[in-house]
Order: sequence, then structure tokens, then C-alpha cells
Amino acid sequence: KQICELAFQGATTAVGVAENLLNEAIEKHGAEAPVKYPDTAYKLPVITALSGEDITTLGELVPVLQRIKANNLRPEPELGNALLSGEATLYAGEIIEALRYLGGGKPDEPPYTGFLSDPVLRKFGVPLVDGTIPGIAVITGKAKDAQAGARLIKDLQSKGIMIMLVNDIIEQCIEENIKVGADYMTFPLGKFTQIIHAVNFAARAGLAFGGVPKGAREQMLDYQKRRVPAFVIALGELDAVTIAIGAGALFMGFPIVTDQDLPAELQIPELLEAQPDYDKIIKLALELRGIKLKIVDIPVPITVGPAFEGETIRKKEAWVEFGGGRSPGFELVQMGDADQVEDGKIEVVGPEIDEMPEGSVFPLGIIVRIFGRKMQEDFESVLERRIHYFINYGEGLWHVAQRDLCWLRISKGAKEAGFKIRHFGDLLIAKFKSDYPAIVDRVEVTLLTDLPAVEAKIKIAREKYQARDARLKGLTDETVDTFYSCTLCQSFAPNHVCIVSPERVGLCGAVSWLDAKASNEITPTGPNQPIAKGECLDEEKGMWHNLNDFLHTASNRTLEEVNLYTLMDKPMTSCGCFEAIMAILPLTNGVMITTREHAGDTPCGMTFSTLAGTCGGGVQTPGFMGIGRRYIVSAKFIPADGGLGRIVWMPKELKEYLKDELTERAVALGLGADFIDKIADETVGTTEEEIMPFLEERKHPALTMPPLM
Ligand code: SF4
Ligand code: NI
Ligand code: NI
Repeated sequence: KQICELAFQGATTAVGVAENLLNEAIEKHGAEAPVKYPDTAYKLPVITALSGEDITTLGELVPVLQRIKANNLRPEPELGNALLSGEATLYAGEIIEALRYLGGGKPDEPPYTGFLSDPVLRKFGVPLVDGTIPGIAVITGKAKDAQAGARLIKDLQSKGIMIMLVNDIIEQCIEENIKVGADYMTFPLGKFTQIIHAVNFAARAGLAFGGVPKGAREQMLDYQKRRVPAFVIALGELDAVTIAIGAGALFMGFPIVTDQDLPAELQIPELLEAQPDYDKIIKLALELRGIKLKIVDIPVPITVGPAFEGETIRKKEAWVEFGGGRSPGFELVQMGDADQVEDGKIEVVGPEIDEMPEGSVFPLGIIVRIFGRKMQEDFESVLERRIHYFINYGEGLWHVAQRDLCWLRISKGAKEAGFKIRHFGDLLIAKFKSDYPAIVDRVEVTLLTDLPAVEAKIKIAREKYQARDARLKGLTDETVDTFYSCTLCQSFAPNHVCIVSPERVGLCGAVSWLDAKASNEITPTGPNQPIAKGECLDEEKGMWHNLNDFLHTASNRTLEEVNLYTLMDKPMTSCGCFEAIMAILPLTNGVMITTREHAGDTPCGMTFSTLAGTCGGGVQTPGFMGIGRRYIVSAKFIPADGGLGRIVWMPKELKEYLKDELTERAVALGLGADFIDKIADETVGTTEEEIMPFLEERKHPALTMPPLM
């Protein structure tokens, strides 16, 4: 078929270009010149994933390219050969792109992102895993006009889909003032071959979260088909190279929709289909990829979707702000009886936005009352935490913190679009009802913007918060007889199991014991299952008979035993979305912790990215462990290994973040209120040798503890 011939032609051209550029580069820099992408543990990921070579120098690329030329370029017009041409194009693209990074530079000017680093991969790992991000759209080419292109992107953004843009569509978006960047999950990769950064992102998802071994080509392709919900929208004319790249997408299992009027015989049902009507393109692409969206119509005049979750609104962009220490503010979810909650009722007590001058500060109270036959008091805090996400999903709305610390802004743009205070109510009602149908039957929202009203109700809210805290504080691993599993991440890391106890939050930091309990009651067959602890096999290390049994089954029989309270012996596995990683530092007899936010070197000789590559994917790696940040200040922080006193290094930012609780814990453990000052950070050093004198001078307790190994 003609498409196959074009794919072959295009692939031949691409491989030829890669070969020429490679030869030139070798002539100029030598075969020994190092070649790598910035901030990744996966070398050149397409090659690492598909054939497994650890490419580190230019010279090593020569035999790879030769092999591809010999094996993959077959002219006979068959679909199988077209896919091989596609694979060849991916190799060629990866090589051409990698050459742009020679010498360790960052060749792309903003807004172009070029290669997406491992931290980006990890940041979007959790939402991809839990389905918050339902898919990845790769859009390449040029839309018939800028407005039509912009509408496509807006539509995808409102659906919460991760977007990668290549070629002229980027300029069209900018022209139409579409917001791009990580905050909007919209990545303008760049031009032409930079589309490969979508592919090497997908490949790393398989390596990092899927536990697919490098070079396991068939397994990787299978993983891509089943677990990476990516699709391609190709806009504008299709030339041979574009078609070859498209064949590469098909090879990875990503279907393509083109806006060109392709005759039926040139289309490949289910894989390559044409849809010239822009209003129908996305629907078709989602169908081809089997992505089902929960459609929620939210009656507010702004776009709502996870794409806007990370959007920041600076003070000068805000029309009005609330809370955040500038004015009293709070938010509260309370369950009520059937006769107390009037479904859909929204009441605003105090001024509406039209009565708020530009740049003003107002008090705000958000009271959400929920009735549900299966609603429980324990769910209140779980649902209350959702307020943060739901409000942030609104374009032009900004929300940080929670409870009586909450801080909100409404942008000038949202105000202009017609957003009113009462729309907070519409937004919350729609989201609570659509996201929690099993427990939420009726929702009513009261919004207070009047100072006396806020002051009166904030007292009630504070009493509620205190009561809840008291209950959570009373929960220890000993006082409950049931822990919960979390296997949400198995969609990415098929053998990974988190065990969540009152004193150990899930390693993503987002699932506490109460959350897991509530989630189990909301969805009994879901990813959080209760496990009665049963017989304790090792009190110190934290091993229970029933937990082992559960783990064995849930890990697909890859693991037999797990200890909850140590990182040295059968520790909990890590999937890929850990907030922080611990690693032992043998010389100091202690452990270090680094976070996803900290990109720099650490005393164990690895950055967060590299560490993540060594301990992710659902395997036990003694001496290394992914954790949630809050686990560090838990009373069950590696007690079997000596506890908090073992920590000799962590990034400054983490120290600040945990400061008060860390000090409180240190005092409780008899380590002294100044323990935090004995922990080294990046300003002290980033090797064991560098931090040793500091630890000695400050008499760090780890130095005199029993040997760790
Ligand atoms: Fe994933 Fe564990 Fe978090 Fe569950 S608790 S979402 S399995 S990291
Ligand atoms: Ni995970
Ligand atoms: Ni995870």
C-alpha cells in the first residue's frame, strides 16, 4: 500500500539524516565524546527500552544505526514492514535529538521544552497512575487556522489530558494565548524530530513504573499498548517523513487521527483514521485509544480541569484574595441529615464579587454540607481535602493549604469571564457529586464573605478540626488491628504494593490510613483493601503474618515478606511516585533522604532521578526506600534501624518543610531540640567525605549508634 511505501521512504530519509549527522559529530568531537540527555537515569530511553544498549558515547551509536538500517528498512509494502520503518524512524529521531545535546547544553529556548527530564516524568506519574490524567495527546503539525488549533488544545486541557505539542501548532497556541508549560500539562516539545521526546517519555514510563527490563522489546510494546494511553493528532499535510514518524507511533501502539481528507484506502481502521471536522477529532482519538472520560458539566463561566491545577496566580493578577493570613478564612465539610441538606442550594452571605474592588482582600468561609446514606463522619476530612483540588481545577482560581489556613485568589481574567463567588458552590457541588456518587447524595454550599459571619463560624470549624486531630493522634499502629493496602500504582508498577498504616502514609504522600479506609468504604473492590494484621512475627522490624500473605498474592507472587519498620531487611517496595527516597551512607553509619524537588547531587553519589531508577518498579531494594515526606516525622520512622537519629543528610528545603514537627519528634526521642542542626544538607556538602567533619563536629548521634550494616 501507498502508506507503507511512504513510511519506508520517510524512514530511509530519517535514518540517512541520522547517519550523516552522527558521522559529522564523530569527526568533530571524536567517537569517545559522551552523549546523554539531561536529568535522566535512562540514557537514550528509546534505545534503552527497545534494544537495551547503554549508550554513553557517540561511537556506540554507529553499530546500533547499522543494525537498524540492515534489519528494519524493508521496501515490500506490508503493514509489518511499515511498523519496522516506524521503529527505525524512532531510533533515527532519538539519535538526531541526542546529538543536539552534545556537550551537556540545553539547546532549547523557552517555551520549547525539548527533552522532558525524569522529574517531569515522576511528577506526572502519580496523576497518570490514579487516572486523574486520562491520556496523553501528541499533537503535531499545523492546524487549518490558529483558532481551530487553539480550540482543540483548550478542549483537551479541560478534559485533563496531558498534551505534547510539536511544530507550528506551538506558535498557533501562543498566538491564541493558550497557556502552555508544566503548570498546564501542555508541553511545547519543539520542532520536527523533537516529537521523539513524547516517545522517550512513554518509554521511560514503562521502564520506571512498569518494571519492564531494558531491551525487553515485546514486553515494552505490550506495556505501551495496555498502560500508556497516548494518541497522536496529526494536523496539516502528511509528507513521507511525517508518515514515517506516524508509523513509529503506530509501532508503539498509539493510534493517529489526521485532519486531512485521506481516502478510505489510505486509512488503517483503528490505527490511522481521518477526521477533517475539528469538532470531532478529539472524540475519535479518545475512542480509538479507548479512553473514557467522566463527563461533568459544571455550570461556571471558566474552564475546569486538572490542567489548571498547577496554575499560579500572582498577587498582581488577582482581582480579590481571601485568607492566607491576610484575612480570616476557612473551609469545612460537614455531614448532615437528609432534612438538613437541600441539594444544589448555594447561599452567599456577604458581598458578591461585583462589590469587591480590584486588588482587595476579603474574608471567606466555605461550608459544604453533605448528606449521603453511606456518608460517615470519617469521610469529612477526606472530602474536605478535595476542595483544594476542585477549586484549583478552575482556570483563574488559585487555592493553597486547607482548613483555617486556606488562601485563595480569583484572577482578573476569571472575574472578566463572569466568575462569581456563588460559582465556587456550583463547582464544588458538581465535583463532589460526580467524583463521589457512592457516598454523596445531596450537597449544599454556604459561602461567607462577611467578616462577622466568618468570625462566628470559624469557631465552630476550629472545634471540628481539633476533634478530628485528636482522633487521628489517637491512632497508632498498635491501636488498630487493620492496615490497608494500596495497589493504585499497579496500573504502572504491576507488582508494587503499598501498605498503609496509621503511622506510615503511602509513599506518594497522598494516601493516609484514614484516606485508605474511607476509600475502601467508598469503593469496596477498589485499590485499598483492609488487611487484618494477624499474628505478629517480628515486633521490632514490623512483620505480620497476614500482611505477608496479602503481599505475596498482591505482588503476583514476586515477594514473600515485608517489614514495615526498617529499610535494611525486606523493606516495602517502591513504585515510582515516592515523594522522597532514603539511602544508607555506610561511611557515616546513617541514612540520607532526598526529595523529588531536589535536583542536585547527594552524598550517596546519585541524584533523585538516578536513585529513583535504581529502586522503583515494585522490587525490594534493601538500603534504599521510597517514602512519603510525612513518614519522616512518624513515631514509626525506621525504629528497627535506630529511628530519626539515623538521618545525617537531607535537602535544606525538606528541613524547612518539616522543621517544627522534626524538632518536636527529636525532643520526644531525647535527641535534643537542636538535632535538626546536626543534619547536614547541600550547603554543607554533597559527598560523604564532605559532610563527615560536620557530623563529627556537631556530635551527630548516628556516629555512635550500633553499625547499620
Ligand atoms: Fe501508589 Fe502507594 Fe500512593 Fe497507593 S499509596 S497511590 S500504591 S504510592
Ligand atoms: Ni506509584
Ligand atoms: Ni506510587
